[in-house]
Amino acid sequence: MVKSELKEAGRYRFHHGHPHYKMLEVDSRLRYFKPHATRVERTFAEEISHGLDRGTNSRFVNPKFFYDEVGSELFEAICSTPEYYLTRTEIGILEGMGGELGSLLAGGYRRGGAYNGDLFSGARSEDGVRLVELGSGSSVKTRIILDVLLDRQGRAEYFPIDISDILTRSSALLLADYPHLAITGIIDTYEGGLEFLRAYGGGRSLIMFLGSSYGNLPPDDGIRFLRNVRSAMKPGDMFLMGLDMVKDTPTLESAYNDAAGMTSRFNLNVLSRMNAELGADFDLDNFAHRATYNEDERRVEMHLESLRDQTVTIPRSGFVMRLERGELIHTESSYKYEPGQIRGMLNSSGLGHVGSWTDANGYFTLVLAAAC
Ligand code: TRP
Repeated sequence: MVKSELKEAGRYRFHHGHPHYKMLEVDSRLRYFKPHATRVERTFAEEISHGLDRGTNSRFVNPKFFYDEVGSELFEAICSTPEYYLTRTEIGILEGMGGELGSLLAGGYRRGGAYNGDLFSGARSEDGVRLVELGSGSSVKTRIILDVLLDRQGRAEYFPIDISDILTRSSALLLADYPHLAITGIIDTYEGGLEFLRAYGGGRSLIMFLGSSYGNLPPDDGIRFLRNVRSAMKPGDMFLMGLDMVKDTPTLESAYNDAAGMTSRFNLNVLSRMNAELGADFDLDNFAHRATYNEDERRVEMHLESLRDQTVTIPRSGFVMRLERGELIHTESSYKYEPGQIRGMLNSSGLGHVGSWTDANGYFTLVLAAAC
């Protein structure tokens, strides 16, 4: 499905339970919820002026704005570059943990009840577990988990939450491949999606947050985010999260400086997006992608460097920006973690550690948590 089909006005109808969303019901197995367009547009223009209309070297862009349709596709391209070990490694771990995850989901979590403390009791819930994914993107990794759920339950419900319409394309592909799957897509931010989930009710969920997206949140925001996830969880729900681990600097830096230049295009795309949607006049040739690992802060820092003294106008955000040569606009940080940090992060958010899985190099970790 393409964007234009989704926008077909006649097919929208209001869903009264969610006044902030319009709903598109495609067929009995597929529907989408999307917030009213005005809400999103206002946010983009406002947040850009909040982040950029400020002093030299304190300018930033919220990384969620990377993921328009082009940006989401560029990110998929990053994921298959030889330097970006994260995706490959995470897929390997997910494939290895499949069976174990299945028994954890079925075993220790009684239907509608609290965690019973015995993860391997083997008691099978009669309810199916539904899959909720934050930042689902192309939903490639989703398939591994859907296979686990479908193996056990025969049918499954999937709730992808993504800020990009790319979600409609990946959902159509999933439906074609999985006859016993129903999809409710939510095209919104994580916060919006979690709020939606809280209001939605229903059975048990496995909520997934993969691909080291968690690492894009500064530590305080990260804990706030985990608490928000926690507050959307019902008894018996579980949360599966990917974390990229601290490792040698060259490996980290090359993952964010691929030779084919995909990461550079991805970073610069946020400027094209401001040109297209906010009427800005960024000349992309006047900016360069920069990514370095900050060992003290344990994070890869992504910037756009102004290659000359220049003036940029962003009409729909209502300001003019003077940039000096060499000045940096911060676009994203990607935090890396030590194994010893994980339990503390979960515990300070009201989550209990159920299990962790890693690869032979200890490059990446998948963490399973439960509400406690
Ligand atoms: N979640 C990804 C990560 O931290 C996002 C990402 C990968 C990214 N490459 C990037 C963000 C380059 C900005 C620029 O690994």
